[in-house]
Amino acid sequence: MKRITVIGTGYLGAVHAASLASLGYEVLGMDVDAEKIAALAAGRPPFFEPGFDELLSEQVASGRLTFTNSYADVAAFGGDDRANTVHFVCVNTPQRKGEYAADTAYIDSVIDNLAPLLDVPTLVIGKSTVPAGTAARLTSRLRALSPAGDEMRLAWNPEFLREGYAIEDTLRPDRLVIGVQDEESEAALRDVYKPLTDTGIPLLVTDLATSELVKAAANAFLSTKISFINAMAEVCEAAGADVMLLSKALSFDPRIGGRFLVPGLGFGGGCLPKDIRAFMARAGELGADQALAFLKEVDAINMRRRARTIDLAREQCNGSFLGKRIAVWGAAFKPDTDDVRDSPALNVAASILLQGAQVTVYDPKANDTAAKNFPTLNYADSALEAARGANLILHLTEWREFRELDPNAVAEVVAERRVLDGRNALDSDLWRAAGFIYRALGRPSAV
Ligand code: UGA
Repeated sequence: MKRITVIGTGYLGAVHAASLASLGYEVLGMDVDAEKIAALAAGRPPFFEPGFDELLSEQVASGRLTFTNSYADVAAFGGDDRANTVHFVCVNTPQRKGEYAADTAYIDSVIDNLAPLLDVPTLVIGKSTVPAGTAARLTSRLRALSPAGDEMRLAWNPEFLREGYAIEDTLRPDRLVIGVQDEESEAALRDVYKPLTDTGIPLLVTDLATSELVKAAANAFLSTKISFINAMAEVCEAAGADVMLLSKALSFDPRIGGRFLVPGLGFGGGCLPKDIRAFMARAGELGADQALAFLKEVDAINMRRRARTIDLAREQCNGSFLGKRIAVWGAAFKPDTDDVRDSPALNVAASILLQGAQVTVYDPKANDTAAKNFPTLNYADSALEAARGANLILHLTEWREFRELDPNAVAEVVAERRVLDGRNALDSDLWRAAGFIYRALGRPSAV
């Protein structure tokens, strides 16, 4: 039975650690953030992710999942058998300030701190999203800094989980990809993932660079698909056509498919925007910048959706936000998470505030994380409270709660019955029947 450590306990690492514990492994989670570790050790999730609350408390109670903020504990995990412990690195790689490139400082720091303590040949596995070539560079660093020298092994195992479905995606992923440099590492990773591969989940073995690129390419493709349909929304707006019908018609072609083809405010979050920029930056360094020049357009189309939403909202307010009360429904970058990193909803809310409106935000789970980043916005405890006295409602993150609201109840509390659906997710007929002027991106005003 393998012992596993997981370094970096954010949305990815914490779920990875608890999911592996649920497969029966003994898992030690490590993070430099002492507050986060204290919460996790007490079975309290430091973020919202559906199902994680139960999974974490169950696994902590079982005794299989423990936490530490000490690298020495990580290196010693497994005691005399520590050569059989595998170490997953799940720290984040944010966009460098003022640049497109990814900042790998956190992952470098993990290797710098951990390697000197790994005194027996051990396998370290990177899961973070990194520029191609990082794993090879880290292998040299690991070997140079560890007393076990060239016997140290490093592999890459990119993560494809989506926030909001993190547990499902960890325990039942579409595929597993492992980038390895030797058979021993492949065997160890096959062993770790045996409970998943036994259920038929495909495992692909690649070299290090390919495994790094699979992740970058996957996020580039997903971003491109979203920006494609949003570009069609722009054309639909110009032509008086309806992008929702267009998207539906396209989706019947199995070569295209309907997923990630929902037009609206576009993509945000801690991954897609920074990953396509880091991918472009790395391709540039490698001399392949032309190959990814189209991603600049993907990024630009995405950003134009935010500007278009603000313009459409201003139009709804007769040309000026001054003195207007705007309700913003949704703050998270997508539903079922409290993550507000690069959230399109908050980007729009903050811009409208700066243009003179009074903006009140409500998100079922992300009010607190939003308030930390944007303290100047008002926050309400319910969708109706946010809508009270509003001249316009902006629906910017498609939580189920918003779709299930009765527009007639909303009509009672607003100052003006106007709704702009930034996610094309509300039932336009219901809202119009309740007397609302319903507008959405990429659709004619009468639809
Ligand atoms: C994304 C990828 O989907 C995961 O496979 C990947 O592992 C992860 O990044 C990562 O790199 O760690 P995530 O950021 O959780 O996952 O969010 P997505 O579900 O991909 O949504 C991203 C954004 O696209 C959201 O803002 C969402 O609202 C938007 N979106 C999605 C659309 O605007 N239209 C769509 O049709 C789908």
